[in-house]
Amino acid sequence: MLLTILKDVAVLAGISGVLAILLVIAERWLNNYGDCKININGKRELTVKGGNSLLSSLGEKQVFLPSACGGRGSCGACKCQILEGGGPLLPTEKPLLSQAELADNIRLSCQVKVKSDISIQIPDSIFNIRKFSSVISEIIDFTYDIKGITFKLDEGETIDFKAGQYVQLITEPYGKVRQRVSRAYSISSKPEINTSIQLIIRLVPEGICTTWVHQNLKLGDRVNFTGPYGDFFLRDTEADILFVAGGSGKAPIKSMLEHLQVVGTQRKMTYFFGARSLKDLYLTKEMKAFEQVFPDFRYVPVLSNPDPDDNWQGETGYVMPHFKNAIRDPQNTEAYLCGSPGMINAVCKALQEQGVAADKIYYDSFG
Ligand SMILES: Cc1cc2nc3c(=O)[nH]c(=O)nc-3n(C[C@H](O)[C@H](O)[C@H](O)COP(=O)(O)OP(=O)(O)OC[C@H]3O[C@@H](n4cnc5c(N)ncnc54)[C@H](O)[C@@H]3O)c2cc1C
Ligand code: FES
Repeated sequence: MLLTILKDVAVLAGISGVLAILLVIAERWLNNYGDCKININGKRELTVKGGNSLLSSLGEKQVFLPSACGGRGSCGACKCQILEGGGPLLPTEKPLLSQAELADNIRLSCQVKVKSDISIQIPDSIFNIRKFSSVISEIIDFTYDIKGITFKLDEGETIDFKAGQYVQLITEPYGKVRQRVSRAYSISSKPEINTSIQLIIRLVPEGICTTWVHQNLKLGDRVNFTGPYGDFFLRDTEADILFVAGGSGKAPIKSMLEHLQVVGTQRKMTYFFGARSLKDLYLTKEMKAFEQVFPDFRYVPVLSNPDPDDNWQGETGYVMPHFKNAIRDPQNTEAYLCGSPGMINAVCKALQEQGVAADKIYYDSFG
């Protein structure tokens, strides 16, 4: 009896083993799409190995579409128009595409697999996005969970960007994390410095990239990034400006203010910075110092939950109730917002209620 059971188990195990091997062979055979061609804007043709996402296939050929979430299908930054090929729309894409985009066959390039020849249309400006190699030249602890890190470009390299734009850091494997990921970080230094960039990075508990940055990176380490990306940049107008930021959202606003100092702006500006308590404030002296630089500028830190020991005498609560006095001419006001999606949504709503036009409200949401 026992012998029969053992024999049956052995036969079953044998069949499962053979099936598993057949499956692996079938998978390799079925997924062998061979070489595929990607035609870009009818002008340029790339030959790539089929089977990978359109986003990563383009990246391998040094064509870098924005991908703020690193290809996880959650940010929508990697959209591009597919003229031919690309396969059917996936359920993961639909929530991030509007009706107009669906009609134009706009797709998320991180979700589209290159399985055959494909033709795409992308803005020519994408070709300005490059991969950079750098060395860490400075690390500053701004708070217990926010660091300012300077990346010095290799000798002879320069980066051209607009104040407010971001780059994507590419991590290296560390500890138990074996894969490389890329994540978006706004440049906090001014565009006039083009041989290095500074980023301001807040530690996200369990976060792959921020843990790598905070716990592994040290002076002298080599780091790669791509960029510059994004349409969140300072517009060259004479309109009044309202800046609103929270946490590491201070990064692009710092770049904008430093740039405005270089060009000697006369614009009327107010900057609200939201934080939880005193220990979350940083660069306060530097931001306050701009009040002496510009003819009409105010820096207003607002604490939502100050500790009793903070002895905080400044503004408290949410930033929105404080806008009233800051918006003097809503028709002639631009707003630049940066921080968590919750903060951005609430501030957008409050600004529009006070008469600021939706198309004059620019933001980068760090969600
Ligand atoms: C355009 C743009 C610019 C950005 N600029 C900056 C910047 O200048 N400085 C900066 O610090 N960050 C910035 N971010 C956020 C940054 O890209 C990463 O999302 C963030 O650092 C987390 O990356 P991670 O790999 O450590 O975490 P992940 O491994 O991606 O996430 C780990 C877990 O944390 C959650 N999570 C992810 N992000 C956050 C968050 N911000 N808060 C709370 N939970 C989170 C995820 O849902 C997940 O469960 C920016 C994002 C965008 C889209
Ligand atoms: S990279 Fe974020 S949705 Fe594609």
